[in-house]
Amino acid sequence: MLTLGIESTCDETAASVVRDGKTILSNVIYSQIPIHRPYGGVFPEIASRHHVDKMLPVIDQALKEAGVTLKQIDLIAVAKGPGLIGSLLVGLNAAKGLSLATGIPFIGVNHIEAHLYATLMTSKPLFPALGVILSGGHTTLLKVEAPGRYQLIGQTVDDAIGEAFDKTAKMLSLPYPGGPEIERLAQTGNPNRFPFKAGQVKGSPYAFSFSGLKTAVKYTLEKLELTDPIRADIAASFQKAAFQDVIEKCKKAQEAYSLSSLIFGGGVTNSRTLRAAFASALPDTPLFFPDFALTLDNAAMIAGLGHEIYQSRKTGDPLDLSPETTQSLTPLT
Ligand code: KG4
Ligand code: ZN
Repeated sequence: MLTLGIESTCDETAASVVRDGKTILSNVIYSQIPIHRPYGGVFPEIASRHHVDKMLPVIDQALKEAGVTLKQIDLIAVAKGPGLIGSLLVGLNAAKGLSLATGIPFIGVNHIEAHLYATLMTSKPLFPALGVILSGGHTTLLKVEAPGRYQLIGQTVDDAIGEAFDKTAKMLSLPYPGGPEIERLAQTGNPNRFPFKAGQVKGSPYAFSFSGLKTAVKYTLEKLELTDPIRADIAASFQKAAFQDVIEKCKKAQEAYSLSSLIFGGGVTNSRTLRAAFASALPDTPLFFPDFALTLDNAAMIAGLGHEIYQSRKTGDPLDLSPETTQSLTPLT
């Protein structure tokens, strides 16, 4: 069964053809990073306009690279949210239009769940698992009973972790996206120089808060003369504080909910520093990370998850399916 995946939740226009939910025949990603770099983050209206320009060429290229025609596609899967409303509408309407014109069923999938599915495409984790999504838009812990069956444990109440990296990088005059830049700069810095701490949310032990951490960096920067060694120390101390917080909350959640393994997803899991920190903090827990090619936003994970859902549901979505801009799960108690 061939699935065409479409992704446009944020600033990547992506299309992919996946066979039987696992074999990636093409994975085309048009990244808008250079376009948004001057703004230090994603400019939503500009993102939507570029999706409009690139969506059909990217879909054509994905079909071409896979060596198939649209007629051979059995299912169209599209990210229906969460994400930027203008961006989401472009992908969703492309999927609906193609479905209407060809009669191929389409299915809308959750982008966060798809980040976890990226890892399931290449590994077989033990369930129930802790799903850990760390990206530019999300910081979410889920209890994953099985692929497609999950419940919310906690999420950020303000900035997402990747967003905190991007904003901190901007303060350090580093280009967007800031995560890889901070990781690089931190290699020469002292992570213990500044006692930064991520926030705790009263009454919600698994919720995240990174806006205070970002503000602490801002005040530190205002007090110091910015030399290269100090910038490196700030980057290292910030990175350590952000990752320590995630690790501690994951450890606590894993114990509290008796979870057998950790499944990671999202752009921040690109960080080798993060992967190493988790491995040393949880040496006895199986940790499953996505392939580096699937950490950032992509449509292969959307196609994979769409296939999986269609296998159990056997029917597509109606043409009036709405985009979902926010995460709509209620936390487990
Ligand atoms: O998953 P993704 O492509 O987009 C969203 O769904 O949001 O993640 C992009 C985010 C950016 O915020 C970027 O700075 C962060 O992932 N990122 C990193 C690293 N590589 C990418 N953050 C920390 N360390 C990294 N090495
Ligand atoms: Zn994402």
